[in-house]
Amino acid sequence: MQSWVVFRYEDCKEVLRNNERYARDPGRLGRSKEHLATSIQTEDPPSQMVLRRRMLKALHQQDLKGIAIEAVEAFISRMSAPASGTRVDLMAECVAPSVAEMVANVLGSPTVPAETYTPISTALSRAMDAGLDPERLPPGRTAGDWVRAEVETWLSHAPEAGMLATLADDPVVGDELERKGSNYLRNTVGGIYNAGFSTSFALGAALIQLAETEPEAFARAAASPNLIQSANEIVRYLSPAQATARIALEDHTIQGRQIRRGQSVVTMLSAANRDPRIFSRPDDLDPDRQESNHLGFAWGPHVCLGAQLALNWVAALLASENRWTGLYAHLTPDYLDTATLMTVSTLKGDKRGK
Ligand code: HEM
Repeated sequence: MQSWVVFRYEDCKEVLRNNERYARDPGRLGRSKEHLATSIQTEDPPSQMVLRRRMLKALHQQDLKGIAIEAVEAFISRMSAPASGTRVDLMAECVAPSVAEMVANVLGSPTVPAETYTPISTALSRAMDAGLDPERLPPGRTAGDWVRAEVETWLSHAPEAGMLATLADDPVVGDELERKGSNYLRNTVGGIYNAGFSTSFALGAALIQLAETEPEAFARAAASPNLIQSANEIVRYLSPAQATARIALEDHTIQGRQIRRGQSVVTMLSAANRDPRIFSRPDDLDPDRQESNHLGFAWGPHVCLGAQLALNWVAALLASENRWTGLYAHLTPDYLDTATLMTVSTLKGDKRGK
């Protein structure tokens, strides 16, 4: 990939945090941005700050706990519905539709049917590994175009609920989009939909398997009086978003290695989250763990916008675990060939008898 790769927690955090030294936006190095759909995700402070802050505020004005609980209830009824003995793809039938509804509810957008959106999300997740395999880029671009066209239809009607309604009424956002153009909002909204869907899909698959493969640790996490802390520990432990990257803006060294301006630096979030310098017994899932500043949602100016929703969702899954764990036997994951996001394409199981 012609990149440096950093694994230590402190190094990863510094790369993510230090906006003066590392860029997400290639324009800061004078590189072309023509191929990029500019949004809060592709720009750095200060240029994305106004919209990012308004997005975050709009998100936090939603009933995140209520939306998460609703998504978990929908998930449980889908897990319970199939007849005993049926072999079910839990991703297609249970996880994907309920996370699609959750993200749509928070945004205030229509829910894209899971069978339509899952292949789009797969193409976008595979394209995040274009540094490893450039052939993944064209299908990713086609998927990105599809998302933008879809978002265009959402924005063409006055949104009535969720973040989109809050943003539509916000004069600061209106002024900002005058400057940035309406594509900026379209790309940002599409980015939120996909970031929310793809990571929750990945985390859902990992969580269902965790309940099966490490039932004792999972039960301890579910029994904790602080389920948000348990949820954070689960995100640290599973780290479905395994890596991200930045570009160096100046020559400098990391651990004695010379990094040149313009070189790419990959931060291995999943490795940093198991760094024994920071996390004692890093390979144990420990809901009582005191060190809570994991990098599973990254860090710094691009830290996950949806982290509070994701944590509420995992907490609701833990709170209701006795209603959905153990319903299926012979779980068989089929992993997607992706590195940036660790995720499955399918997770099949046999519905147990009563
Ligand atoms: C389910 C667990 C989730 C995990 C593990 C996760 C992880 C991450 C990570 C690691 C990043 C930083 C990427 C980077 O710096 O390159 C990120 C960014 C982001 N996430 Fe999440 N995420 C999750 C859920 C969500 C949800 C539910 C939403 C929205 C509803 C969301 C929206 C976003 C957005 C919009 C960004 C880009 C922020 C920016 O660039 O300013 N995420 N997420």
